[in-house]
Amino acid sequence: MDREEARRRIERLTEELNEHAYRYYVLDSPTVSDAEYDRLSRELEALEAAYPELVRPDSPSHRVGAPPRADFPPFRHPSPMLSLQNCFSEEEFFEFHRRVQKLLGTEEDVTYMVEPKLDGLSLELLYERGLLQAGATRGDGMVGEDVTPNVRTIQGLPLRLRGADPPERLVVRGEVILEKAHFERLNREREEAGEPAFANPRNAAAGSLRQLDSRVTASRPLSYMMYAPGLPVPGVETQQELLERLREFGFRVNPRSVLCHGAQEVAAAYRALLADRFSLPYDIDGMVVKVNRFDLQRRLGEVSRSPRWAIAWKFPPVQETTRVREIVVQVGRTGVLTPVAELEPVRIGGVEVSRATLHNQDEVRRKDVRAQDTVVVQRAGDVIPEIVAVVLDRRPAGSVPFVMPERCPACGGPVSQAEGESALRCANMDCPAQLRERLLHFASRGGMDIQGLGEKIVERLLERGLVKTAADLYRLDAATLAEIERMGEKSAQNLVAAIEQSKRRPLSRFIAALGILHVGEHVAALLAQRFASIGDLMRASAEELTAIPGIGPEVSASILRFFEPKNRAVVEALLEAGVTPLAEEKKPAPSGAPLAGQIVVLTGTLASMERGKAKALLEALGAKVTGSVSKKTTLVVCGENPGSKLAEAEKLGVRVIGEQEFLDLVGHTPS
Ligand code: IVH
Repeated sequence: MDREEARRRIERLTEELNEHAYRYYVLDSPTVSDAEYDRLSRELEALEAAYPELVRPDSPSHRVGAPPRADFPPFRHPSPMLSLQNCFSEEEFFEFHRRVQKLLGTEEDVTYMVEPKLDGLSLELLYERGLLQAGATRGDGMVGEDVTPNVRTIQGLPLRLRGADPPERLVVRGEVILEKAHFERLNREREEAGEPAFANPRNAAAGSLRQLDSRVTASRPLSYMMYAPGLPVPGVETQQELLERLREFGFRVNPRSVLCHGAQEVAAAYRALLADRFSLPYDIDGMVVKVNRFDLQRRLGEVSRSPRWAIAWKFPPVQETTRVREIVVQVGRTGVLTPVAELEPVRIGGVEVSRATLHNQDEVRRKDVRAQDTVVVQRAGDVIPEIVAVVLDRRPAGSVPFVMPERCPACGGPVSQAEGESALRCANMDCPAQLRERLLHFASRGGMDIQGLGEKIVERLLERGLVKTAADLYRLDAATLAEIERMGEKSAQNLVAAIEQSKRRPLSRFIAALGILHVGEHVAALLAQRFASIGDLMRASAEELTAIPGIGPEVSASILRFFEPKNRAVVEALLEAGVTPLAEEKKPAPSGAPLAGQIVVLTGTLASMERGKAKALLEALGAKVTGSVSKKTTLVVCGENPGSKLAEAEKLGVRVIGEQEFLDLVGHTPS
């Protein structure tokens, strides 16, 4: 392929991929399979790697993120980003409506656009001649933070406006959100990786958008919806037309927005939305009512940074008051101390709540929650309950502020605080609470999946000193287990069988089961793709680890720290006890440099291309191509009449692929 052909192909692929992404993320109706989409992406990535100067500004490859920066540059909004006045009842809304009528000097019905009030964080986007130039947060309303590299990673957010005739300059506003299902998955992964969970989807979205490393943003499934102009849009005279135009430009726009004639219709829309509140895939905390006509909006104007033509009609929060029985401190698998309020049970939105996490010491201090306090507890949708505030005038006399213990409540060892973290940790690796959590994690479904090894049994095994590390599990026999209180012979045998079965799990599960800080299922899968065995992972250097797309310096440091002699001994004991993690089938990574970290050897003759070209294609995808097979080789590409390299590869158990598989891997269609 010559340069001109490459240019045309890159243009074609960019357009095709953007169209597919639009259909998938905005319209929710994809027309190609994921595999086909991946194939096209890989083809584009290979071409872009070979011709970096031909990469287009709207290329989907910009969505993978860029290296970290020191700070966010300021971004001056072309017009101030206003905030909304709130109202909380039908009466208050009718008052707003009458004021609008009065200011407009009319008794007639006013037409309003009614939109769900998304609970995320506001975003402004600037496009010039159809291309995304900048994305910024609200900041103080006048100047926000320029988060352009992060914004580019949001799936379904147009890097180029759709349609043939984009305006010279377009400034639009909307909200970045994290859908509830994605929020829950993100938190599960964080917990598995020993990282603190986010309190709610809004915090998670804000934390994800305000990342100095946009590759982190790219790894978070953020979404967005647009709903307001930042500057007048030529030819658009109403909010309804605006939403229509935004949709045509390729933005996600809330399908639940409705036009209402008069206040009664607005009130009906409120009741309908309130009823559906928890069934929407994202959090909303009310609805926004906007005078539809822009000329009327201009006549109404604004007071003290809020427009007089719009109002936020908030939903009643799902809150109850109850009493804190006591504050206990839990010790997690990685030693993190989490204060938890034990509550007198209350029903909130149909669910009984008896505990609420206080997250960490900063949070306890900020809220000043104490034992015996009466507190307001809130449940937002499916999210974990939280304490909103203390009812101070019901605080009993003589109560004292809660302080985090200086020693671990489980083992009495010292606790410490890492720099830049609010979490306190128990540093004692042998702390029984950590041991218990680590064993439970080891045996959990995402790990070695040992059925029947639950909390009770783990506790008894620890109490009796039968188990000190995961490796000890594999030395248990049915007779010893049957001696444990309330454990019959049959269940003892079942448990031994389940432990035996767990010896052969995929390498990724074994790595996840170890409970390395920051290494959840996702990172474990990346590592298992890169390394053929746990031994290889234990020997890996920081450079080799950070060369894997999706693994940054923090994760890499944590892995290196984990494999200090003591944990290494546990891993070795596990292998000695017969645990045999199964090497993973290798598949190309979907994004980033797809073959980064792979060490490839070519042998034999390829029918479709010269060896030099094959080498260039592999290198363009991030692979290192070497001349001879060694233990470090991760892949051998085998053509016709292979030499001794094939035999060597087979001896070392290196993966060997044929020509067709190679072509699929590099996304190359022979011409
Ligand atoms: S319009 C001047 N529409 O609510 C009007 N805002 O205090 C500008 N919000 O910070 C906002 N959903 O982030 C508008 N459909 C919607 C909204 C919405 C959520 C947020 C927005 C703003 C806050 C208003």
